[in-house]
Amino acid sequence: EGGSFFSGKFVLLTVGATQEPLDPVRFLSNRSSGKMGFALAEAALRRGARVVVVAGATSVPPPPGVEVRRALRTEDMLHAVEELFPAADVFIAAAAVADYRPKSVALQKIKKGNRLVLELEPTPDILMEMGKRRRSDQVLVGFAAETENLEANARDKLVRKNLDFLVLNDVSRADVGFEADENEVVLYDRWGGRFTFPREDKRVLADKLLETIAARLAAVR
Ligand code: PMT
Repeated sequence: EGGSFFSGKFVLLTVGATQEPLDPVRFLSNRSSGKMGFALAEAALRRGARVVVVAGATSVPPPPGVEVRRALRTEDMLHAVEELFPAADVFIAAAAVADYRPKSVALQKIKKGNRLVLELEPTPDILMEMGKRRRSDQVLVGFAAETENLEANARDKLVRKNLDFLVLNDVSRADVGFEADENEVVLYDRWGGRFTFPREDKRVLADKLLETIAARLAAVR
């Protein structure tokens, strides 16, 4: 059931952490390693997809055979995704994208002083933007990294960003989520489905997520 869905499809992913510069040597970022996103890229490749990853900063190497485009700032990641999205059959947003960036970037290294107040402004929401532009034949998969009100926030993101699937992870835990080798997630879909995945190596989990997504698409489409 749905076993060959990914075969011949173009799967586009965002992976890793975006970095928002403060000055020539400093940036705001987060702890995403790229493990979860690269595991999904590898699983899609094994299922016969053509895979392109738009990667922010990552601390693990990309899987062999996966085409990687680097985009460190959120703005750069948005532009790379915008260019590739129209040709994508599936878009998976696994990147941990900065929600804010410094309003101005200092041209010289900021000097040490008594007190420094940073003014931040929101970054573009890449996934939300693709949710607006999407065609109905495209499949959109988002993540939700939450520390509280997990289920409510996940369902809200699924609807608000116009997604087909949303993978919820609890990032308040140290044994799963950011940087860990393992993850434990709940997959929600726009047709009311809810599937729980116990703690497992991210590579094994990634394959199970794609299996469930393929099966759900075969059942509902
Ligand atoms: O890389 P690892 O160390 O393996 O860790 C994996 C992970 C915990 C980073 C990953 O599983 C994960 O949860 N990624 C999404 C992190 C995140 O930014 O979640 P969010 O709830 O803030 O964002 C919701 C969704 O919108 C995500 O799909 C995100 O990629 C996307 N988004 C968010 C903000 C923004 N400006 N643009 C976006 O595209």
